[in-house]
Amino acid sequence: MNDIERYPIGIFDSGLGGLTVLKEIERFMPKENIVYLGDTARVPYGSKSKYTIIRFSTENILFLLKKKVKIVVIACNTSSSLALDYLRRIFSIPIIGVIEAGVTKAIRLSKYRRIGIIGTKSTILSGSYQKELLKRDNKIIVYPKACPLFVPLVEEGLTKGRIVEMIVDMYLKEFKGKIDTLILGCTHYPILKKAIAQYLRGVYLVDSAKEVAKYVYNLLEERNLLNRNSGVPKKDFYVTDDPVGFKKLAKIFLKRSILTPQKINV
Ligand code: DGL
Repeated sequence: MNDIERYPIGIFDSGLGGLTVLKEIERFMPKENIVYLGDTARVPYGSKSKYTIIRFSTENILFLLKKKVKIVVIACNTSSSLALDYLRRIFSIPIIGVIEAGVTKAIRLSKYRRIGIIGTKSTILSGSYQKELLKRDNKIIVYPKACPLFVPLVEEGLTKGRIVEMIVDMYLKEFKGKIDTLILGCTHYPILKKAIAQYLRGVYLVDSAKEVAKYVYNLLEERNLLNRNSGVPKKDFYVTDDPVGFKKLAKIFLKRSILTPQKINV
C-alpha cells in the first residue's frame, strides 16, 4: 500500500516566525502530520547574502527529506525570495514558497493597484515581490520598504506600545495616502498586524500565511496526497539551537503550547 499521504508536511523557517504559516496549515488541514524545522542557530536570514541563504535552505531541506516529508513549505520570506528557484531546480519534491501566495492575494484585494511591500533587507533587495507583482500586472505601482527592526521587536514580545508605534511610524510614514494594500512580506510581521492596521487605516494588510495554506491544500489535493486518515496527527518540532527559548516564544506565534523541540544539527 502506498502510504505517502500519511507522510508529514515539512515546513522550515529561519526560526520561529514560520509558526504563523504552520498555524494556518493546521487550521486548514487538521489531519496532516507536520515536521517543523526552525534554524534558530543561524537566524536571522534577513540580512544574509543569497549564497548563504541558498546553502542554509538546501541543508534544511536535506534534513526534512530525512524525515520523509511529502512536500516542503518554505515559510521564510527571505529564503523564498532568494533560494526558491534554485531549490526547485535541484530537488524533485514539491516546494512551496510564500511569495506567489502573498502576491496573488494582494492583487485580488488592491483596487487602485498601488501596493506596498515590507520585508527584511534581503527580501526587499532581492526584488522578488516587486518582480512577481509586475509580472502579473505591469500597471501596478510597487512601494517596497525594508523594516529590519520589526523582527527583533516581535522576538522581544513587543507588539504594542510607544516603542512599537514609533518604529511603525518611522518605517510606514512614506506609505500614507499612497497605497491601498500592503504585503506583510516577513514571517514576523503578522504579529504586528494590529499596530500596522491602526497606523495605516483603510489599507488592506496581506498576511500570506493563510494563502500559503490554500496553495498547499490545492497542491496536495491535485496530487492525491491529502491525509484522509483519522487519528491524532503528529507535530514534530526541531530547532538548531535553544529548544527551551523556542518553546517559550512559540506561544506568542501559535497561541498554544508545544512540546519542547528537539535540537538537531543540519
Ligand atoms: N523568517 C524571516 C523572513 O520571513 C524573518 C527572520 C529572519 O530574518 O530570519 O524573512
